[in-house]
Amino acid sequence: MRTTVRHIRDMKRRGERIPMLTAYDYPSAQLVEAAGVPIILVGDSLGQVVLGYDSTVPVTLDEMLHHTRAVARGATSALIVGDMPFLTYNVDEAQALRNAGRFLQEAGAQAVKVEGGTRIAPTVRRLTEAGIPVMGHIGLTPQSIHQMGGYRVQGRTPRAAARLLADAQALEDAGAFSLVLEVVPSALARLISQRLRIPTIGIGAGPDCDGQVLVLHDMLRFHTEDGTKKHAKEYADIAGTAQRAMTEYVSEVRSGAFPGPEHGFAMDESVIAELAGQEPSARPADR
Ligand code: KIV
Repeated sequence: MRTTVRHIRDMKRRGERIPMLTAYDYPSAQLVEAAGVPIILVGDSLGQVVLGYDSTVPVTLDEMLHHTRAVARGATSALIVGDMPFLTYNVDEAQALRNAGRFLQEAGAQAVKVEGGTRIAPTVRRLTEAGIPVMGHIGLTPQSIHQMGGYRVQGRTPRAAARLLADAQALEDAGAFSLVLEVVPSALARLISQRLRIPTIGIGAGPDCDGQVLVLHDMLRFHTEDGTKKHAKEYADIAGTAQRAMTEYVSEVRSGAFPGPEHGFAMDESVIAELAGQEPSARPADR
């Protein structure tokens, strides 16, 4: 049975913490789901970690739908949330409704995520009224990176903190079923989580959110950048493991150690002996 938004809300009511991870394709969705993750976010972080863009801004709706479809083929029981990319939901409500609908109708998602607070609340209401579950996202909102002037902690001043609290409340009132809090001080995330009935999912927002999310490629260290992001814990070093494996492969191909006899396929040697004994002109290809 597939996890629903109602299950997710009930988890908060029961005080059960909610783990969320991103996935972008069929095998990653299978692995994430097999680990027991109830919500898979097909994040527009896809742009950076899979497609090599320098931010999430260039990610298109078609790219998101393409990858969401692959995730939906790999995950049959997790709730799949499709991230709506830059400018696909904030031109007008009709555009938002059309594009959000495509995640559910064409790509196999059960919910969408949008960035923004009070400003986006009327759109969230419109989508939820149309039957499209919405996850909000406030704090550091990477699609507004050019407006924000960089990736930095949000909500530290009294004014900014009050604004984030108001944004969170506006999204809950508009019908969002959960809310991502990205890179906000832990104490503010705790207060927002206490105030809201819907679950908060934190990334760089401390331990007191109702759930946590990490970008898959960060938690697996599946990238070649130096250093670790402060908010992300690396649970594996997939890039290191993969690099060592590839280097060994290159060296074995060069030395002839790979492939070994066990990687080949046998046939009756007499066929080869007969073929080898024939004049080149007798070969079928030459006839
Ligand atoms: O795109 C993404 O992966 C996200 C998460 C960081 C919440 O929005």
